[in-house]
Order: sequence, then structure tokens, then C-alpha cells
Amino acid sequence: MSLPIRLPYFDALLALLEEGHPALEQTFGRHVHWGYWPEPAAADTSADAFAVAAEALSRLVWEAAGVADGATLLDCGCGFGGTAASLNARFADVTISGLNIDRRQLVRAASQFQPRRGNALGWVQGDAGRRPFRNASLDAVIAVECIFHFGSREAFFREALRVLKPGGRLALSDFLPHPAFKPILRLASLWPARVGFYGRCRLDHSRDDYRRLAERVGFETGVEQDITVNTLPTYSVLRRLAGEFGRPGFSAAAETLFTELASRLGALRYMVLGYQKPGG
Ligand SMILES: C[S@@+](CC[C@H](N)C(=O)[O-])C[C@H]1O[C@@H](n2cnc3c(N)ncnc32)[C@H](O)[C@@H]1O
Repeated sequence: MSLPIRLPYFDALLALLEEGHPALEQTFGRHVHWGYWPEPAAADTSADAFAVAAEALSRLVWEAAGVADGATLLDCGCGFGGTAASLNARFADVTISGLNIDRRQLVRAASQFQPRRGNALGWVQGDAGRRPFRNASLDAVIAVECIFHFGSREAFFREALRVLKPGGRLALSDFLPHPAFKPILRLASLWPARVGFYGRCRLDHSRDDYRRLAERVGFETGVEQDITVNTLPTYSVLRRLAGEFGRPGFSAAAETLFTELASRLGALRYMVLGYQKPGG
């Protein structure tokens, strides 16, 4: 089945997971995002420790969404279902939907996670910009490390506002350019998606752009947490995996190195962002 977008990193990951590699399964079999180390200077970057760090990052995002027992939740761009599984394990009487554009990832999510008693867990194939959910039907919308792939951040925010109940929350994580480096990052985003290992990634929204977007759409900005330094050990993990699974190719190496350098130099910041729909 062909996808409406190109995601070579997921093609590679799915093929390797299919072959069965325990360390890769431990690292990216559940969450496919960067890790969060509370003490990055002393970070353990083993596969086991990365799994804990990836879970910690998910948790930071759903905490920004103020999730509580009994809530109706949507995880947009849910990958292999790690964040939905984390919510399922932590909360009672919740209804969780994981939405993804790629059916193969949903098949894997459904095969590895079951709802806990009293919870409902479902998987929906669709585009994050056009969600098959009723108006004002959800308590929280979550999007961990995927908004840069979406067709339009504004369409995503507008859809989130539509489907959230008054007082409902939107929480996400994203790579935000420092305003001084925006022109360079704009140039980098001209890197053609057709050759890119990570597909189309638009890293062009600074913190002020997000503030303006939230205001334009009608959200109140809540959380703005810069966790760049806590995510940096992820790059050691990626280098080790690249060594273990053979040369990842020029695009993968160049794109990862660019992101690492930009993050270390302060040009790109990894942030957790949280918003609230007025009312409720
Ligand atoms: C870096 S992965 C993050 C996956 C997951 N959120 C996690 O943290 O494990 C990006 C995800 O966004 C999904 N995605 C990309 N474009 C999408 C779209 N337009 N609608 C829904 N999902 C999309 C991809 O299929 C992939 O699962």
C-alpha cells in the first residue's frame, strides 16, 4: 500500500523490526521519538535506558495535556502506539484513540497493546489535519514529535480546537528554531523530501510563531518547556544504532547530524507545548 507521504525512516524501521532485533525493539519498538533524561550529563544510553527516557518524554507531553481518569483522548501521529499505551497503563476509565496516516504502524500498535479493564483503546487511520471526530468530543489531543510532518500546523490546530470540549487541552512536542536561525532552517527545509530519510519535516515554527498561531486559532497558551538539553543523549543512541545496523545512507546521517548540531548550538530547541481551549 502506498502512503500519501514518504517516511523512509519508518520503512527502514518496520523492515528491521520484522527481522527481529531485540535492541532495536527495545529502543524504537514502542515509542519512535527522542528520549528525555532528567540528568543528561550522567545519561545512560543503553537500549534499556533509552526505553525509559522515551517513556519519560511521552509522559511530559501527556502531563502538559492535563490528562485525568475518565478522559476521552486522541493521540495524533501515534506511531507504534507507545503514548496511547502509556496513557492506558496510567489512567482508568479512559477512551484512547491513536490516529496515524500509516496503516502498517497501526497494525503493529494493535498487535502489541490491549486496553486495560475499564479503558477503551482504538486505532484510526487518517490524516491529522482532517480528523474523523465529532465537534467538542475530546478532553485532550496529544501529538508527540510529529507535527513537523503534517501538511499544515494551522489546519492541525484548527481541527484540535474543533474536536476539543471547552476547557480541553492540546499538547505536543516539536523542534523550534531560534528566531535568529530561522532563515538557515528555512533553507534546510528546502532539502527535498523525496531524498530525505525523515521525509518532509518543516522545522519552521519558533516559539513566537506558535504563540501567534494559538492566538489566531483561539487557544490559550499554557506550557512552553524547553527540554533540548535533556534530549541530547538521543544522538549517541542513534549513532550506536547506525553502527549496529550498517550505514544508514547519506541522507540519514546528514539530517541527523544537522539536527544534532543545530540543537547543540541553540539554533533548534526541543520543546513541549501545551494549549487550552477557552471555556469549560
Ligand atoms: C516521529 S514519529 C512519532 C510517532 C509517535 N508520536 C511517537 O512518539 O512514538 C511521526 C509520526 O507521525 C505520523 N504522521 C506523519 N504525517 C501524518 C499525518 N498527516 N497524519 C497522521 N499521522 C502522521 C507518522 O506516520 C509517524 O507515526
